[in-house]
Amino acid sequence: MAKNNSIYSKPIVFSVIVTVAILIGTAVMMVLPMFSSSMHPKLEKLKPYTALELAGRDVYQENGCFYCHTQTVRPLKAEVMRYGEYSKAGEFAYDQPFLWGSKRTGPDIARIGGKYTDKWHYKHFNDPRKLFQGSNMPGYGWLADYQLDPGETEARMKALGFPYTKEDIDALSDKTKLDALVAYMQALGTAVPKPPKVPMIAAGDKNPFAENANAVSDGKKIYEMNCAACHGIDAKGDIGPDLTDFEWVYVAGPIGDDTLFFMIADGTKKDQEFEGRKAKGGMPSWGEFFGKKKIWSVVSYIRSLEEKK
Ligand code: HEC
Ligand code: HEC
Repeated sequence: MAKNNSIYSKPIVFSVIVTVAILIGTAVMMVLPMFSSSMHPKLEKLKPYTALELAGRDVYQENGCFYCHTQTVRPLKAEVMRYGEYSKAGEFAYDQPFLWGSKRTGPDIARIGGKYTDKWHYKHFNDPRKLFQGSNMPGYGWLADYQLDPGETEARMKALGFPYTKEDIDALSDKTKLDALVAYMQALGTAVPKPPKVPMIAAGDKNPFAENANAVSDGKKIYEMNCAACHGIDAKGDIGPDLTDFEWVYVAGPIGDDTLFFMIADGTKKDQEFEGRKAKGGMPSWGEFFGKKKIWSVVSYIRSLEEKK
């Protein structure tokens, strides 16, 4: 037993000393690192939201999009295959608060930026079922009836310390909530470089199913299910270009089977060159959904349309 006047016999003093010791430990282990920059990683390519994008982020929050969508890809093989590169801590430096969400009634949209064209988003928000028959996402076309409030966005830009100019704020006055939401969609996930893809075929490969009647009819089914929403059921163009007009990548004249294959498998980006012609971007990639045979079948179907002219 300790002596009578030892600290063990003074419960109040003992408690105070223990509390102080724990607080010092907490400060060293938890509070100090909060001031270290390594606890606040920021990707090199990450930019603060522009005024329009920030307004779109508010629309996203106001409408509870996060009840149905997540904005974080977990580092699991199935997720990375479906959505793209997994989320990094350094992507969320300007997200206050972050909008990771927890439920996926709809797909994750952390990598949605650049996946589709603006036109696609307008069409989809107006009526999701026009693009996906079974979609249970509500329509948001009515957002186009609401003008943005530049004063409110300016106050938020200031509060968050994001850079902006007077022109950026003035430009908001003829924009609607729908414009802002689309701009926000296009900004999501763009700070993370997309990993290079392993090509599915070699440049110069010819279509092994060219003019094969079965391939043409398989290709037609695939086309109607997946492509008609953007290129039209008759393939005469809508969001995407006319596929029957002998023009490829906006220039008249033939294009190789391999080039068509690559456009369908990997999609297109703005200013990407195909046989010396410049794309505008917005064709999504299908390589992760279809194998080689299906893509070649669609190429056969597209060639059969060209011949009809
Ligand atoms: C009731 C649940 C629900 C709500 C609320 C909802 N969505 Fe969706 N969303 C879905 C479903 C289901 C899909 C998949 C089918 C489709 O694309 O329509 C989807 C698809 C999407 C896509 C396309 C994703 C892709 O990779 O193809 C985007 C973008 C999107 N939603 C954005 C939004 C935004 C922005 C809001 C809020 C304004 C919102 N959603 C609200 C359920 C929802
Ligand atoms: C989300 C809309 C969308 C969907 C769905 C879509 N495309 Fe496209 N597609 C585009 C856009 C936009 C372009 C123009 C690309 C560019 O300029 O970079 C394009 C371009 C093309 C081209 C080149 C056309 C030309 O005239 O140069 C082909 C071929 C093509 N798509 C085939 C397909 C096939 C096959 C499917 C279905 C498996 C499909 N697309 C689905 C939007 C879409």
